[in-house]
Amino acid sequence: MSDNPKGLIVLSGASSGIGQAIAAKLLAKGYSVLGLAESYSNSIITHQNFSKIEIDLSLIDELPGAIAEILRSISQPIRGLVNNAGIGRMAFLEQLSVADMRLVMETNFLCHAIVTKAFLPRLKKQQSLVDIIFTGSEAALTGARQGSIYCASKFAIRGFAQALRDECSRSQVRISILNPGAVRTPFFDDLHFEPGSGTNNAIEPDDVADLLLSILKARPGTVIDEINLSPQTHVWQKKGK
Ligand SMILES: NC(=O)c1ccc[n+]([C@@H]2O[C@H](COP(=O)([O-])OP(=O)(O)OC[C@H]3O[C@@H](n4cnc5c(N)ncnc54)[C@H](OP(=O)(O)O)[C@@H]3O)[C@@H](O)[C@H]2O)c1
Repeated sequence: MSDNPKGLIVLSGASSGIGQAIAAKLLAKGYSVLGLAESYSNSIITHQNFSKIEIDLSLIDELPGAIAEILRSISQPIRGLVNNAGIGRMAFLEQLSVADMRLVMETNFLCHAIVTKAFLPRLKKQQSLVDIIFTGSEAALTGARQGSIYCASKFAIRGFAQALRDECSRSQVRISILNPGAVRTPFFDDLHFEPGSGTNNAIEPDDVADLLLSILKARPGTVIDEINLSPQTHVWQKKGK
């Protein structure tokens, strides 16, 4: 990976969906990207400035050591940390196992808190502009049926982002959160429903990636706290219909 002037963005969930779209746009704009995901077997990006690290972020006990090692391997300035990896386990609460509940909270919230805590001293020490951006969700704003634990994980990440923004307000580290509604990605592959097939029924991953670039471009001294975006027409359909 070359040491380029736009700097490095560390991006979790870079192997698929929203993260893959973000990686592609960042690389096209001249950033280096260090991706974190479990596997890149379905990733379509090959670029000299794209480094891929395979890591299971839900292995919470191993995470501090693994992230410390990743930090030691990074020699160039870090321009941003995008905490985007996530999973959905959508069902009524009685149908969710405790293992599912734990996995959602650890993958969608706790791992991002641990990764951010590990990166923060280095990011503050750089004394240059840094953006930490979280992928929240419309589920971070309003609870809805079959989303009890997923919504809880996204409310948690939103509260975490708000508190951290305040904690970082006297440094050059800015904290933002993107809250999309339905985005057409493999997120729905293992779920029993998906957005309707109309172009108005889902956001495209590129739409989210464009907004992330706008956060990076904001004038230093201004923080884009949150961006909420929705499909024009909310339609959900059961799989196979
Ligand atoms: N799609 C939507 O409608 C929607 C709407 C609002 C918010 N979001 C949020 O957007 C984010 C990205 O989702 P997406 O729609 O792009 O889904 P996706 O296509 O399924 O991508 C999820 C990404 O997260 C990574 N990931 C999941 N578990 C991981 C783990 N234990 N360790 C490391 N990486 C892991 C996946 O990598 P591996 O495949 O290698 O595990 C993948 O790169 C999530 O936080 C999701 O909650 C999605």
